[in-house]
Amino acid sequence: MSDQAAHPLALEGTPSPTPSVATDGTWLECIECGETFAPFSAIRYTCDDCTGLLEVRYADPPGFDAFSGTGVWRYRDALPLERGVSAQEGDTPLYRVPRLEAEIGVEALRIKHEGMNPTGSFKDRGMTVGVAVARELGVDRLACASTGNTSAALAAYGSRGGMETLVLLPAGKVAAGKIAQASLHGARILEVDGNFDTCLDIVQDLAARGAVYLLNSLNPFRLEGQKTIGFEILETFDREYGAWPDRIVLPVGNAGNTSALYKAFRELVEAGHLEPADVPKLTGVQAEGAAPMVEAVENGTNAVRRWDEVETRATAIRIGNPVNAPKALPGIRETGGTAVAVSDEAITDAQRDLATEGIGVEPASAASVAGLRALRERGIVGDDERVACLTTGHLLKDPEAAAAAGSDPEPVPGDTEGVLAALEE
Ligand code: F0G
Repeated sequence: MSDQAAHPLALEGTPSPTPSVATDGTWLECIECGETFAPFSAIRYTCDDCTGLLEVRYADPPGFDAFSGTGVWRYRDALPLERGVSAQEGDTPLYRVPRLEAEIGVEALRIKHEGMNPTGSFKDRGMTVGVAVARELGVDRLACASTGNTSAALAAYGSRGGMETLVLLPAGKVAAGKIAQASLHGARILEVDGNFDTCLDIVQDLAARGAVYLLNSLNPFRLEGQKTIGFEILETFDREYGAWPDRIVLPVGNAGNTSALYKAFRELVEAGHLEPADVPKLTGVQAEGAAPMVEAVENGTNAVRRWDEVETRATAIRIGNPVNAPKALPGIRETGGTAVAVSDEAITDAQRDLATEGIGVEPASAASVAGLRALRERGIVGDDERVACLTTGHLLKDPEAAAAAGSDPEPVPGDTEGVLAALEE
């Protein structure tokens, strides 16, 4: 076991406060001022009073014994609705990677491959909940800004729920597989002259004017679905390894997933099913060209500087203004985790390493493994740690990046002799 002393999880046994609004045991609460709101009474994404981020709260967050069934909805007692618009999301594999484990040099390494969800990324877990909430609220046009995966998931789940979908994408910066998905699933696709952060500014304005229902990770209901990654990792790791992971390493863009995992663990602590000292250290990884969260963690500040210029081959995390930072930074700090930036070259190397273990991921996903390697080399991760790396999206999302990282096809003549001759070269 690694040193758990630096593990000041502040939420030991924190009881849920009684909300000042009428609820069914579920309410929305501002993380800044504590104001509470009934969950489905009106459309809101942030606090009416102070514009702080909202979070879904439960009077009685459940522990492991409440979970039964399969997929994301196995965790329905920890979700704001009983059922969603589902395409059988969740239950993703937790792969063993013995060669990578030995090479990086940790006690245990497992890869939680979220690319195995229905549309090929973890976004499906959020959308199954978010789209169902949209239906509950009676809205008909769903929208998001996206680096690609959110748009694919929104398009698929929105169509499944019979709703209109609109996606705003940074022109020229979204991988081909993701645009193809959004397109075939029937989203209206707007290519914006600007980066992802500009797209999100615009879609927030559209939502504020009532033109669309926003399903970016600012939407607190979406993060509830993504929370289930944390429950699944703990349950599967424990079943297969007999212990929980010491650390979870994940790529960071808007920091929604980091916030969601932290919330999963806080709720398990609150339910008395997880000791604060056993909460995995949340460890975020960004690309060097888009690393505002890493900068904030290194500087020990909560004031995250917006990066106007961002660039990385890992286009999924080409984000300069991580809107969920106020939720995610406490998660990283209070679990004793950290954040690290990696180069595009290190990301591609990790993508190749995962591929040699038979695991195909898109570049942003490989950042988790590249980050773990960097932290291991610096001695920040110990050789006695049990680690789960989250790979967030499937290889086929970004065929160009995969082809560039892999080997080139060789032209050969159309006869056996010619093929044999080529093989002997
Ligand atoms: N990995 C992949 C493959 C992603 O698509 C994203 C985010 C992240 C990691 C980062 O997750 O934002 O929760 O920190 N993609 C969003 C999108 C922005 O539009 O698809 P985060």
